[in-house]
Amino acid sequence: MPLTLVSGFSVADMDITTQTALVTGGNRGLGRYFVSELLNRGVAKVYATSRRPEPANDPRVVSLPLDVTDEQAVNDLARVAPDVTLLINNAGVATLSSFLGGDLADARQEMEVNYWGSLHTIRAFAPILTANGGGAILNVLSQSAFRAFGFADTYGAAKAAAWQLTNGVRLELAESGTQVTGLAMALVDTEMSAWAKEEGWPLADPAEIARAGLDGLEAGALEVCGDEITQQWRARLGESVEQLYPQAVPALRARA
Ligand SMILES: NC(=O)c1ccc[n+]([C@@H]2O[C@H](COP(=O)([O-])OP(=O)(O)OC[C@H]3O[C@@H](n4cnc5c(N)ncnc54)[C@H](OP(=O)(O)O)[C@@H]3O)[C@@H](O)[C@H]2O)c1
Repeated sequence: MPLTLVSGFSVADMDITTQTALVTGGNRGLGRYFVSELLNRGVAKVYATSRRPEPANDPRVVSLPLDVTDEQAVNDLARVAPDVTLLINNAGVATLSSFLGGDLADARQEMEVNYWGSLHTIRAFAPILTANGGGAILNVLSQSAFRAFGFADTYGAAKAAAWQLTNGVRLELAESGTQVTGLAMALVDTEMSAWAKEEGWPLADPAEIARAGLDGLEAGALEVCGDEITQQWRARLGESVEQLYPQAVPALRARA
């Protein structure tokens, strides 16, 4: 799958071999692929966090417990990992809730993990990245950040908030020299999308998505689309709402 640098613009290249990375949710799903791809690329050290950490085989991996919704725990982690230069906000939750029909607790949990969790880690680690020379943040987003489906959109709202977080923090950290990159993609073959696999939807290989994210990061890209469908939708954002969501128009016209 080709790497897509959305902006067509990149800042300075990053050398992974000199990085100490922190991957939230690094024990399973896409996070596990980030960890293994970082190791393939010669990363110096990786903190891989999970709510249920497991010992790692590679001596460069430090497995640590973390629930990203627990702000105090995130701040405590920052104290035990002051050498981090690359923060990968990968932890995420999707509950398939809809705005009107879903359980509000699910919608809140999506915001807690996808948005607040990333904000917690960014606030805790931004000063560390700055002190360590700038470093980088990779936020794992989703095409749902800029696309509504009519179902599962409470997840999209949380990812849209995380997208805005990504763009805003990039500006706030520009003077520190911190590269802030967003990685968006459609369905990926992990536990999160097991429902889609059952329904026969096309799923991206998580190894390829992790590679695309790290390729973009290394190349200094500020936003990366991991697959073609996300790239296409991202490119359409200048279109009118009627063009983007034509399915809503006939019913509204009939009502008029
Ligand atoms: N799979 C897809 O189709 C897809 C598509 C677009 C974007 N994404 C995004 O890709 C990222 C990885 O998702 P995935 O596909 O690997 O999903 P997954 O298989 O369901 O794994 C979810 C990951 O998030 C972590 N996590 C969940 N709640 C957490 C919490 N409260 N605190 C800390 N970690 C937490 C889990 O860690 P533990 O359970 O080990 O603590 C696990 O590593 C997410 O940000 C997701 O939104 C996924």
